[in-house]
Amino acid sequence: MIDLRSDTLTRPTDAMREAMARAEVGDDVYGEDPTVTALEERVAQMFGHEAALFTPTGSMANVLAVASVVAPGQEVLCESSAHIARAELGAHGAITGLTMRTWTAPRGQVDLAAIEAMHAPDMGPFFVRTAAVSVENTHNFAGGAVLPLDDLAALRAWADTTGTRLHLDGARLWNAHVATGTPLADYGRIADVMAVCLSKGLGAPVGSLMVGSADAVAEARVRRKRMGGGMRQVGILAAAGAYALDHHVERLAEDHEHARLLGEALGLDPADVDTNIVVVERPDAQAFVSAAADQGVRIAAVGPRTVRLVTHLDVSRTDAERAAGVLASLA
Ligand SMILES: Cc1ncc(COP(=O)(O)O)c(C=O)c1O
Repeated sequence: MIDLRSDTLTRPTDAMREAMARAEVGDDVYGEDPTVTALEERVAQMFGHEAALFTPTGSMANVLAVASVVAPGQEVLCESSAHIARAELGAHGAITGLTMRTWTAPRGQVDLAAIEAMHAPDMGPFFVRTAAVSVENTHNFAGGAVLPLDDLAALRAWADTTGTRLHLDGARLWNAHVATGTPLADYGRIADVMAVCLSKGLGAPVGSLMVGSADAVAEARVRRKRMGGGMRQVGILAAAGAYALDHHVERLAEDHEHARLLGEALGLDPADVDTNIVVVERPDAQAFVSAAADQGVRIAAVGPRTVRLVTHLDVSRTDAERAAGVLASLA
């Protein structure tokens, strides 16, 4: 089976496992795990922020990040197929007590005119006010689409005029960085707070980080503990993340090439495949998924008529070529 359901399916490589086994550890709830602390400092610095916090999942990093800029009773605006709206199962409402409103844009892009029209200023205690806008780069359900830096910069400029905070769901920001050559710090600069994942294309088994100001991260550290997310000798996991940052970022370009191959086999213009995710519409997504599985290619239905394929570390060029052949025969 060639498994293209998600880039979360990667298994730690032997070298990554060795790095995990060698990691120096301590009790991170006491702030005594040197490997976790080093990873947090490294990632904060990569994005030009003051601090970062290691979390078990991207969802937790997003909840902590958004909660640092949106108070209970306030709202965050995001694109309608954003992961925080579609796949975090109401956590932001249930845990933080915030509300969300969404705009819809092709390829999950920033629609500044829509955001301006939706923005709700402070009108007193009887109305929900817009505290933050959240953007996702790359955009998962929009087929790994990259948000252009110019659009993000325009959003940042608008946000500054209205006192709106910006959250960046950067679960796959590494892919955007490799696809465009945009420095990570340039992405960091547009966001007040962000979340990044090590357990997607980078191939770590677990681990994400919330990134932001020292105050926001200190507060998030308390919230993480309250959510049951205080972890102990977790340096063995942080070591996998550090290994991934050392060895698995630049190779994402191969995943992007493989995704273009698959996109072309499915009738897309390869130029429309920005990174490692391909999303296509089929009249019956489940039937298409089953037909591919019958020929040894696992892909995912993410809607009744929507199919998603994701390339990753465990998909070789040969796998991608074989999968492309199968998909072309079904297309
Ligand atoms: C864009 C995006 N954000 C956040 C997450 C959440 O990550 P996790 O599955 O680690 O909670 C995902 C997971 O696929 C994602 O695609």
